Amino acid sequence: MGEGINDYTKNIVDLRRHMWMDGIEVELRRLIWQIAVVGKYISAKIHESNRKLAGFKNIYGEEQLALDRVTDDILKNKLQHSGFVSHYASEELEDIVAIGCGQEKYIVTADPLDGSSLVDTNLSIGTIIGIHNKSIFDSGRNSMVAALYITYGPLITMIYSAGKGAHEFVLDREGEYVLSEENIQLKEKGSIFSPGGLRRDWTAAHLKFIEKLEEDGYKLRYSGGFVPDINQVLIKKGGLFTYPALKKSPQGKLRLLFELQPMAFIMEQAGGLATDGKEDILSLKVTSVNQRAPIYIGSAAEVKMAGQFLSQ
Ligand code: AHG
Ligand code: MN
Ligand code: MN
Repeated sequence: MGEGINDYTKNIVDLRRHMWMDGIEVELRRLIWQIAVVGKYISAKIHESNRKLAGFKNIYGEEQLALDRVTDDILKNKLQHSGFVSHYASEELEDIVAIGCGQEKYIVTADPLDGSSLVDTNLSIGTIIGIHNKSIFDSGRNSMVAALYITYGPLITMIYSAGKGAHEFVLDREGEYVLSEENIQLKEKGSIFSPGGLRRDWTAAHLKFIEKLEEDGYKLRYSGGFVPDINQVLIKKGGLFTYPALKKSPQGKLRLLFELQPMAFIMEQAGGLATDGKEDILSLKVTSVNQRAPIYIGSAAEVKMAGQFLSQ
């Protein structure tokens, strides 16, 4: 047998086996697996990528790429026939929609394609998923049971958590999601920061916080894609991503349901924190699907430091 093939067969733990070993309940395992499979379809779509504007705007008034809408359709159709999803809410739809017969166990929130404006630059983009077993119009702490994101980059990787740690899988040549890192754990502090928004729009308190990070020698890492920008904090085991309250938009830019809750769930499972500068993201009450919130997310030291600056 060729060099390495033996190791490969000996050590492979694929996604389904990992979830089974973790004792995740069967319907949730199957739902996470089905979403992981959709990631392959979305990746194929990106490669055919139709970068033309779809000629539509989403509820935020942002131009929708054809790819945003296509990936939303792919995801919704797959979930519609999964047998596990009663309702679906996505960044590309006006409101939450019933897609099952109403008896299914889970509600899925999605940012089907995050960072789609970066497709033409060939930078990494992603899919962000939240899985809830109660009404999403509550706090994430009460309703969320699992979260995952897929990064379409040089490798296709998927990070998921069902409340028993955060784990990374890489899609291999055979189309299998193979475990690459189990129970990712952040250090107390990191060395990178990812500051969203324009400097001139930051509040004075936020500007002072960022200047402190710069004085302390933190390296700036910002691609404009939430998924890869968060993923690097997780994989580098520390650091901070922020998209803050801005002078003209005190709720910042990012969407609480579709972007912030899933990443907060995963980051907390990895020993990190996620707040809006004051309150935990997962404690914030969701009152509307298009609710936004400022975000400070990453290793504990930096998130706590942000809170101190913002409370002055
Ligand atoms: P989406 O493509 O789903 O609309 O998300 C884009 C978001 C997020 O990916 C990123 O963190 C943020 O937009 C970047 O905003 P700026 O272009 O203002 O930096
Ligand atoms: Mn997004
Ligand atoms: Mn999006």
